[in-house]
Amino acid sequence: MSQPVRHFLDLWRLEGSDLRAILEDAKRRKAARLGWPKGRRDANPVAEGRTLAMIFEKNSTRTRFSFDAAMRQLGGDVIISNAVDLQLGRGEPIEDTARVLSRMVDAIMIRANNHLDVERLALSSTIPVINGLSDKSHPCQIMADLLTIEEHRGPVAGKTLAYVGDGNNICASFIHAAPKLGFRLNIASPALYHPDLHDLARAAQEQGQVHASDDPREAVKNADVVITDTWVSMGDTDHDERLDALEPFQVDEPLMDLAKSDAVFLHCLPAHRGEEVTDAVIDGPKSLIWDEAENRLHAQKSILAWCFGAI
Ligand code: CP
Ligand code: NVA
Repeated sequence: MSQPVRHFLDLWRLEGSDLRAILEDAKRRKAARLGWPKGRRDANPVAEGRTLAMIFEKNSTRTRFSFDAAMRQLGGDVIISNAVDLQLGRGEPIEDTARVLSRMVDAIMIRANNHLDVERLALSSTIPVINGLSDKSHPCQIMADLLTIEEHRGPVAGKTLAYVGDGNNICASFIHAAPKLGFRLNIASPALYHPDLHDLARAAQEQGQVHASDDPREAVKNADVVITDTWVSMGDTDHDERLDALEPFQVDEPLMDLAKSDAVFLHCLPAHRGEEVTDAVIDGPKSLIWDEAENRLHAQKSILAWCFGAI
């Protein structure tokens, strides 16, 4: 009997054991190629002979380059296109796009405006589909973030992560991961920009320790990790309203001082210094943002390996 296709759409859909296996594979692969030129293939190039198609409906630096570099290190190839250049951009159904690409490549990564389109692509695809960010979630980013935390502070289980700011796609994927990997997640966001209530309900049902409030000081108290993200995500149109509502949620040094003395700071980037975070924090000694950005590459290689059934 054939195995089900391994889509990587959202962290809540995966088993905790799969997420753990991906993180451990990423650590092993990263350690095994320490000091190597970035273009050299891994000793275990599990994407050899495979091609990844990447479709972008939105801008990207890290996701685009890290998936491309990841496939090269895994011995595979990529084909990249902006959605506007595809017939998809002229109204060809996403289901037909899925059926065609399934005949030509081995996996699809899509960065989409609407999460539903990621799901529709996967439903009609006979090859793995990876969510490279939608309006609802950003699972690949959160795998890189968890990898970064574990590299610097050990296992995430039992740790307290504080997410301060917009209850957006980044916040959602942290909520999805919390019950799977056993960390506590404190969220502070303004009422207007609260996290998705379905995500919170699911996490509660899965016995996740996820606490949402509108108090940033309460959220970061004794946290091991403080996280924020842009106040205006790609596709958001209410720029001024967001800046007004989110101003009290800026991560600055006095806020960081309420977290544990060895707390670290994460931001998926791109950042808006002086808005969601001050220069002193994002460029300060507690910030892990460059390791976090690099870890997009390492985490994604293991996500790809999992999709290809090599983990
Ligand atoms: N963090 C992240 O996904 O960055 P890009 O938008 O540059 O891909
Ligand atoms: N929340 C941001 C993340 C960018 C990587 C956005 O969706 O634009």
